[in-house]
Amino acid sequence: MDQAGIQGVKGCVFDAYGTLFDFNSAAARCRGQLGPNADLLSKIWRDKQLQYTWLRSLMGRHADFWQITGDALDYAMKSLGLDDGAMRKKLMNLYRTLDVFPEVVATLERLKSGGLKTAILSNGTPEMLEAAVKATGIAPLLDGIVSIETAGIYKPHPSVYGVALDSLSLEKNGVCFISSNAWDAHGASAFGMKTVWCNRYGQARENLPGSPDVEVATLAELARVLGLEG
Ligand code: LAC
Repeated sequence: MDQAGIQGVKGCVFDAYGTLFDFNSAAARCRGQLGPNADLLSKIWRDKQLQYTWLRSLMGRHADFWQITGDALDYAMKSLGLDDGAMRKKLMNLYRTLDVFPEVVATLERLKSGGLKTAILSNGTPEMLEAAVKATGIAPLLDGIVSIETAGIYKPHPSVYGVALDSLSLEKNGVCFISSNAWDAHGASAFGMKTVWCNRYGQARENLPGSPDVEVATLAELARVLGLEG
């Protein structure tokens, strides 16, 4: 990876869950009720949610991300022996209003003041993404909110990344895609986008096609990576 930076970018496209929005914040807000199960529940929920996106894509049996998120939560709760309909409802509602990571607002503001376009490209449904963006107040900092529902298949199918370019009216080589999900960064890179892997969780590199151009620990490094000073 070239840590020097990425030149010539006119727009930034962000993954949503795990990159802008903290998917662990739903279970964290129920820690009082969930107790020691909170972190494990959140991990199983997320892992299963992603698996279902890939498995359904391979099966050719698409269901939207709201359904998949609920199916994954049901699996996670069952695997931990939690039979609590009220908690399920609460966690699903919280998924619509997740926290943003601490540096997100300042990063988006810096990109906008630097003249860059900004957008989300996410597996989330348009309704889920609208709710999350509204709850966190970042709507004015985004030029586009793109759901994979437009493509009808989940990341990292190459057609999904093309949909994001269309929404910003930008060419592939003018866009930087940013994701904390390594497999997602590899998918965008394999598609031909410049890519930043925001390795929030200190994970090892994936052995997949594509190669993220730059690795950062948080989005606070992004402006520097893109050559925006200050
Ligand atoms: C998304 C998932 C992959 O927002 O985090 O698309």
